[in-house]
Amino acid sequence: MLVFRMKEIYLKEIDSTNKYLKEHHQELDDMTFVYTFNQTKGKGRNERTWVSEKDQNLLFSLLIKNKDTVSLGGYLSLVTSISVLEVLKDEFAIKDIKIKWPNDIYICSKKVCGILLEGELPNYIILGVGINVNQSVFTGEYRVNPTSLRLQTRQEIDKEKLKEKIFKSLLFNLDNINKDSLFLRFNEYDYLKNKEITFFYNNEENKGIYLGVDKDFNALIEVNNKTISLSSGEISTIKTN
Ligand code: BTN
Repeated sequence: MLVFRMKEIYLKEIDSTNKYLKEHHQELDDMTFVYTFNQTKGKGRNERTWVSEKDQNLLFSLLIKNKDTVSLGGYLSLVTSISVLEVLKDEFAIKDIKIKWPNDIYICSKKVCGILLEGELPNYIILGVGINVNQSVFTGEYRVNPTSLRLQTRQEIDKEKLKEKIFKSLLFNLDNINKDSLFLRFNEYDYLKNKEITFFYNNEENKGIYLGVDKDFNALIEVNNKTISLSSGEISTIKTN
């Protein structure tokens, strides 16, 4: 059981929890979590930055070194987003909570959580998760409108307790990976389903309708009556983003 092998490191302040694990992956054990509430130079997807107000939010990364788990590749991102979503949904009775392919979590069409997978295959993978918890003001430019749990639930949230629940859920789901169940759950939470979208394909911006995902978690997009399958990349909705 992964839960018995897990280790936790709390850092009062760090530039990036993903970077910390990258720099220390050799001496740290498989299933080491590192978390902070004060990340000063967070990394986002596609070379963006992840900005988080001091002491307001939960930022963590998990180091995976076990070869069988590392080989799950993209499924790890799916397991992570589903684990986080299900805790938030159950804990705070949030109704309109979805996953935007591949792994952003949205509440009422605003982004509350971002996930960044990094690593060096086949040696290790780092799952990095940033959740906006108690931040109530977001200044600056955001590609997608941000929100936080506090803004959505109108209550101050205990970050330590939330962290415990999310780590437990993630470990449980990593220990019990069932691809069919993940596929069904993702379909239930799929934010983009049937939306008009834009996406990059062959270095060009294209428009299409997002249909869902296939069993390998590729995005299926209808363009001029043909279906294109996208294994990675960025999708934007035409109306809301
Ligand atoms: C995204 O662009 O949506 C992904 C954001 C991922 C941010 C998290 S915060 C914890 C971990 N450490 C980082 O530097 N980034 C990830």
